[in-house]
Amino acid sequence: MKVPADLLVVHAGQLLTLQGPNESPRTGPSLREVGLIADGAVAAADGVVIAVGSSAQVLDEVMLAPDGVHLDVRGRVVLPGFVDAHTHLIHAGSRVDEFEQRLGGATYQQIAARGGGILSTMRATREASEDELVTLGRARLDRMLRVGTTTIEGKSGYGLRTEDELKCLRAMHRLGAAHEVDIVTTFLGAHVVPPEFAGNADGYVGRIVEEMIPAVVDEDLAEFCDVFCDVGAFTREQARTVLEAGADVGLSPKLHADELSDLGGALLAAEVGAVSADHLEYASDEGLQAMAEAGTIAVLLPCTALFLGLPYARARRMVELGVPVALATDFNPGTSPTYAMPMAVALACIGMRLLPSEAITAATINAAHAIGMAEEVGSLEPGKAADLVILDVMDFREVTTAFGTNPVGAVVKRGRVVWRAASMEGAT
Ligand code: NIG
Ligand code: FE
Repeated sequence: MKVPADLLVVHAGQLLTLQGPNESPRTGPSLREVGLIADGAVAAADGVVIAVGSSAQVLDEVMLAPDGVHLDVRGRVVLPGFVDAHTHLIHAGSRVDEFEQRLGGATYQQIAARGGGILSTMRATREASEDELVTLGRARLDRMLRVGTTTIEGKSGYGLRTEDELKCLRAMHRLGAAHEVDIVTTFLGAHVVPPEFAGNADGYVGRIVEEMIPAVVDEDLAEFCDVFCDVGAFTREQARTVLEAGADVGLSPKLHADELSDLGGALLAAEVGAVSADHLEYASDEGLQAMAEAGTIAVLLPCTALFLGLPYARARRMVELGVPVALATDFNPGTSPTYAMPMAVALACIGMRLLPSEAITAATINAAHAIGMAEEVGSLEPGKAADLVILDVMDFREVTTAFGTNPVGAVVKRGRVVWRAASMEGAT
């Protein structure tokens, strides 16, 4: 007896399943194993994948329910929805004026030192109501979906005082419940020192530990706790204090590490057992080695390196050392105002010399691991969410060559077609 499906996607020229040993994030040669099936098909019921294989195999196992959706994608590429493992989704205001200042020669650090940068976004975000932030966030999630992103991590970090940090996290929870894109939330109260604590970073760290973290946990508003550990932000010791306080009450540590200088962030991330260390443009070999040993995932953010003119993180070295690598956009108004995962994938290849297969793995299953979602998303396997992207190309490597374009033809979230480009009209 054939099993009934309510979604059947058939005749993918290349179906990338990312099936494999997915209990832990991929490292080394397994990063290249995208699980490619020629003339592939995926079937789903109730939002969950029930069969994956060649079109012939899947059509043998399942039958489409009478009101089910049939998609013959005619040789196009199908892969799991992108997981954007690092975004600053919730913020108000604009920093385009600062972008022009940087074009005129000012550096990111100089702009920050005169009260711009993160503090400028903080002012706008504090002024915005929770409803306004939800409206801004919804429009951003809509756009993310159209470039193939079906799950994201979203950070607070532009409130920088208890009520405003909670407001940002609550806004994300409302969006996560109402929008197709799933959101995993991170508390980033330690983004920079707010004006109320100018010159007293330790005082602010005390406030985070004694007041903010308990308030976040009390309302169950975050899974992760993150710190921006860099010059102009927090020291290693301050970061350790915050991350340990978060971990004590169940917030899993993450770290913005070695983005603008080598402060030993990678090492700290490994020492505190962080699930990921993100950025790592200036990370030392010693730090990377420690991450490999601890299994800390490197979340690479090539759009930030491009936008700030930083050196790209040494992704090839990381792969060589056995560090698991993931990819994200770092979507934020100051250092990476793009939410386009296809661009992050392309730049990971162009700028960091990852192979297209490695970059796709980094943007799907490894990104899912980096946000604690690998049991649900990141690969197309029976039992996991039917979150998939149909690319309007015939070879998956074209994502990395057609940089700056949107290769996405259609997006399926939990078994439902939630977006379809005009170019996909031929698919039935
Ligand atoms: O990930 N590095 C710290 N935080 C952001 C920048 C935020 C901003 O400039 O608004 C980042 O690059
Ligand atoms: Fe960031």
